[in-house]
Amino acid sequence: MSIDFAAELLPGAQLHGTLAAMRALHPVAPARFGGREAFVITGHAALAEAFKDNDRFPPADAYRITIEPVQGVTFQTMEDEQHRLYRRLATPAFRSSAVEAMEQEGLARIAHELIDRLQGLRSADLAEAFTHRVAFLVISRMLGIPPWREDVFRDWAVGFLEFPRDPEHSRRCAALINEYLAPIIAERRREPRDDVISGLVLADADGHQLDDEEILAHIRLLFSAGASTTTDALGNLLWALLREPSLWEQLRAEPGLRANAIEELLRWETPVAVLPRISAPHAVEFCGVQIPPSTFTLFAMAAANRDPAVFEDGDRFDIHRDSSRKLLSFGPGPRLCPGMHLARRQLSVALDVLLDRLPGLRLADATGAEPRGALLRGPARLEASW
Ligand code: HEM
Repeated sequence: MSIDFAAELLPGAQLHGTLAAMRALHPVAPARFGGREAFVITGHAALAEAFKDNDRFPPADAYRITIEPVQGVTFQTMEDEQHRLYRRLATPAFRSSAVEAMEQEGLARIAHELIDRLQGLRSADLAEAFTHRVAFLVISRMLGIPPWREDVFRDWAVGFLEFPRDPEHSRRCAALINEYLAPIIAERRREPRDDVISGLVLADADGHQLDDEEILAHIRLLFSAGASTTTDALGNLLWALLREPSLWEQLRAEPGLRANAIEELLRWETPVAVLPRISAPHAVEFCGVQIPPSTFTLFAMAAANRDPAVFEDGDRFDIHRDSSRKLLSFGPGPRLCPGMHLARRQLSVALDVLLDRLPGLRLADATGAEPRGALLRGPARLEASW
């Protein structure tokens, strides 16, 4: 019976062991996804090719099923010319002075505020207190949500992301987000400011502009694509570094190694471990394997990033390794993650602040902190003391 990647948690080495066994046999292997027949691409060369092949693996189809019913229509669920046009219209969400200001000072402020809240404590679940909060705060501050509404806004955003498990709750939360943001969009149309919503209101590509519903859908996209991914990356980073306390010490002593440690984490335990595509509506052949029409085909970055043909001793987390050029974690090709710069900056600033403010940080329960999940992979808890 093959593994169902939608259903199983596959904590720690279980996911990587399973994928390595598949990869050793062939770069494309049969699997299951949500009870259906599927294929999984595990080899690095095969996956790099698949990412660029919109004919055999059209990127939008899977998103139309998994996320569009609640998120709405965004460039993520479009193809080709339309995808390019709307991606340009949404650029202010990824590149604008508001994003730059967030990268320059906003990120450090958020990390410090969260550590300030731990004043007087010697231990906590850092997932609850820190890693599960940073990315949500980053997005809500880029949107210009006032501080007193941040907690309730985060609850709605978290609820919205429950779509696969609880579609009703997710829809209610999406409605609350819309209700809250609609008057702000109207206000920014009257009087633009230097924030992401104003950027989206003013965006113009070849004479096209975003209407209100499109702006709301692209804001929801920021949460679905940018919040849980970065949250899990940060959790994985802490787990990887704290499992071996000598690494924490080393990064404290040598700040120059930190950027490389982050790249290595993105290779070794990437939060988007397995990305579902749906193959073309006709049968396709890929790496000698016949894939039936419209079949779930899972892009296993977690496996390709450890392919021994590209990364020597790829199962080892090695903060000195030069991995960034061959990294597939941000999806090379026309869908290359537009938030990758912001994600890397979040990881970098959060790590600097934690190393500085909690120098004696130790994991209290390393097993409980193991990353789990395949589509999104990160620790549920990070019980730690300092
Ligand atoms: C470590 C954190 C992150 C990882 C590992 C990651 C990974 C990815 C991957 C693999 C893709 C390509 C998906 C595909 O080919 O279908 C992608 C696309 C995307 N990412 Fe990220 N991402 C991260 C953070 C972010 C952040 C912070 C944002 C926004 C603020 C963001 C926004 C997006 C969007 C909007 C897309 C869709 C691009 C398109 O369809 O053209 N991501 N990301």
